[in-house]
Amino acid sequence: MEYFTFVLQCGLIFIFVDLSPISGDVSYSIPEEMKRGSVIGNIAKDLGLDLGTLTTRKARIDTEDNTLQYSSLNLKTGELIIHDRIDRESLCAKKSSCVVKQEFVLESPLELHRINILVQDINDNSPQFKDESLQIEIQESAVKGASFMLDEAHDGDIGENTVQGYSLQQNDNFKLHVKMKPGGRKYGELVLNKELDREEKKELVLMLTAFDGGSPQRSGTAVIHVTVLDANDNAPMFTENMYKASLPESAALDTVVITVSATDEDEGMYAEVIYSFDQVSDENQVFSMDPKTGEVKVAGLIDFEKESSYEMQISAKDGLGMATYATLTIEVTDINDNTPVIHLKSISSPIPENIPPGTEVGIINVQDRDSESNGQVRCSLQQGVPFKLVPSIKNYYSLVSTGQLDREVVSDYNITITATDEGSPPLSSSKSVQLSVADINDNPPVFEEESYSAYVSENNKAGSTLCSVAARDPDWRQNGTVIYSLLAGEVNGAPVSSYVSVNGDTGVIHAVRSFDYEQLRSFKVQVMARDNGSPPLSSNVTVSVFISDVNDNAPQILYPAPEGNSFMTELVPKAAHGGSLVSKVIAVDADSGQNAWLSYQIVKSTDPGLFTIGVHSGEIRTQRDISESDSMKQNLIVSVKDNGQPSLSATCSMYLLISDNLAEVPELKDISYDEKNSKLTSYLIIALVSVSTFFLTFIIIILGVRFCRRRKPRLLFDGAVAIPSAYLPPNYADVDGTGTLRSTYNYDAYLTTGSRTSDFKFVSSYNDNTLPADQTLRKSPSDFADTFGDDSSPEVGLELIFLK
Ligand SMILES: *[C@@H]1O[C@H](CO)[C@@H](O)[C@H](O)[C@H]1NC(C)=O
Ligand SMILES: *[C@@H]1O[C@H](CO)[C@@H](O)[C@H](O)[C@H]1NC(C)=O
Ligand SMILES: *[C@@H]1O[C@H](CO)[C@@H](O)[C@H](O)[C@H]1NC(C)=O
Repeated sequence: MEYFTFVLQCGLIFIFVDLSPISGDVSYSIPEEMKRGSVIGNIAKDLGLDLGTLTTRKARIDTEDNTLQYSSLNLKTGELIIHDRIDRESLCAKKSSCVVKQEFVLESPLELHRINILVQDINDNSPQFKDESLQIEIQESAVKGASFMLDEAHDGDIGENTVQGYSLQQNDNFKLHVKMKPGGRKYGELVLNKELDREEKKELVLMLTAFDGGSPQRSGTAVIHVTVLDANDNAPMFTENMYKASLPESAALDTVVITVSATDEDEGMYAEVIYSFDQVSDENQVFSMDPKTGEVKVAGLIDFEKESSYEMQISAKDGLGMATYATLTIEVTDINDNTPVIHLKSISSPIPENIPPGTEVGIINVQDRDSESNGQVRCSLQQGVPFKLVPSIKNYYSLVSTGQLDREVVSDYNITITATDEGSPPLSSSKSVQLSVADINDNPPVFEEESYSAYVSENNKAGSTLCSVAARDPDWRQNGTVIYSLLAGEVNGAPVSSYVSVNGDTGVIHAVRSFDYEQLRSFKVQVMARDNGSPPLSSNVTVSVFISDVNDNAPQILYPAPEGNSFMTELVPKAAHGGSLVSKVIAVDADSGQNAWLSYQIVKSTDPGLFTIGVHSGEIRTQRDISESDSMKQNLIVSVKDNGQPSLSATCSMYLLISDNLAEVPELKDISYDEKNSKLTSYLIIALVSVSTFFLTFIIIILGVRFCRRRKPRLLFDGAVAIPSAYLPPNYADVDGTGTLRSTYNYDAYLTTGSRTSDFKFVSSYNDNTLPADQTLRKSPSDFADTFGDDSSPEVGLELIFLK
């Protein structure tokens, strides 16, 4: 065997000859792929044939079954030589023994020798991979030890010459395990020795070599392309761990605050990053995150005052849910977006009008939710109100009065408080505060006029309205409710309330009784207006009531006595010349002014041409000289009329006796009696007595009534109605010894025509016994002026009263 091995190694050809001379087989063993002409063996020699006969016997090589003739015979040498290329692989493929059968034919005689040419394999084929490049895709997630079968390499040779092993190019990740199939063929397996990282190297190129066992050894290579398939082994990575953004609170919706970004080194789906907020919280209401772009946008209301900074966890996830996290901080910057708000903390309304200046009436609080200067607030009041704001503790202000209040001037204040912050632009707001001023009874009622005058004609009806007074009180409600009342006082000694009354509500003054000018020409009452406050305030006013005269008194003839009362006769001297005063009719009128302006007139006379009467003086004078022919007895009827409208009148008769001697009078009386017949005389006497009695009774009754009604006669006129009972010559003062019966003559002299409504009466009293002048009479004009001081009519009527 060592020998054979040696032969093989030396490439020598061994020929095994089965030496059977006839019909024997000859075997040769040759390596394949010998050159054409190469000697396989000397068949002649091997068969023991004579070289010379070869030609003659037509020695030749035949194929057994018309296959290719691989060998031929060199007739000269008897050598079997290579005729055609012998390729073991194509002849026998993987057969372990490959024999080419040829026949050696000799003729004459026909001789046939089988030639078996054993074709030995030589390592003429290299191992070969089906594809020169092998594509392998390996998940990068493949773990260490994972194996990947590789394609087998093929080698046409057999035996040792075929594939004996593989080797792999040196690399970091893979080892090669060579394995044997049951048939003995070998293949390789890539074994992962170290995990792959696609992100580091996404493709590996490895040279795989297959080698055979031939000598020289042959090998074939293939390139293994290892594609590292991505595994989601990389979480996305944010570009920063902390994102910071700031944003004004006024930011509108959809404002982009920040864009975060994360990268994932993986590929495809694994690198698709989805951004989101990590926690579900309020922030999601305020911000939105675009899951694809990482844009954070404003999605809700940003309010610095609510939240000045947001801190959020954000996450980036890839398609398979690997996530990383980062923090996003969004600082909100303040914008002056809050107007100051004014709160009225307390207000004392209504406030009494008498509070002293500086009284605190309210407390105000101002709030601005902004910060810094945006939240600094100044407060102010509008001009023109008596209040000011006084800063108190932080954000509080006191509303303080600055002046005296007067409800009657301003009862309600509408105070506008304005608060302005110091932002830019500043914001402001205002609030109005209603303050009402409560009443204090600080105003007394004030009469509209300083004094009031009422004019009323005498004989008015009781209850008639005289005038009305009015007072105003600007205070509120009962503090301003005016009640009128009479102040107690006396008029002519009687309580004033018996003269007038005042309506407490309306101030209308009524007469309580009928007034008589002849008794009372004027009086004053005090009316008080009082409010209903507590304590009440009041004021007084004087009401002067002036009673005006009405022509209600007829003239009263004092002298001569009214007709029929007494028989009075004037003596007229016979020698009286024309124009001499013979008598005087004296009449008075209780009225005043025109109503008392008397005029005298002779309405009937015995001799109309003889006497005249002074129209205003009442003096009866002769018109001409008396003559003898004139009747001794003259009778005049005089009418006295006042100047009232309508006028009233009275008449009297005056008997005049033209005679020089008083002694003649009785005779004359007798004569006059004698002249009448006795019958007539007795009738006359009866009539006279009855009339006198009746008249006296009447007078007594009247006097009694008057006396009862008014115990104190105060006016001169009371006496003036007394009828003189005795003969009183004109122009002589009466000397009344008894003093019990007053006899008064009034002499009224109207110095001017006078107005009807006002007159001054100058009264001179000569008889203080009968009339207490200080009670009833005013002695000087100035007294009257004082009394009626407000009555300053320039037209003055004077009435002179002489008391006798
Ligand atoms: C108070 O004044 C404000 C501003 O001048 C006004 O709007 C408001 O109507 C007033 N209120 C009253 C009750 O007068
Ligand atoms: C009247 O004035 C008094 C104080 O003088 C006060 O207490 C009262 O409230 C006032 N009445 C009204 C109705 O204002
Ligand atoms: C009004 O008169 C009454 C009574 O004389 C008096 O008490 C009161 O003080 C007077 N009032 C005024 C304001 O003068």
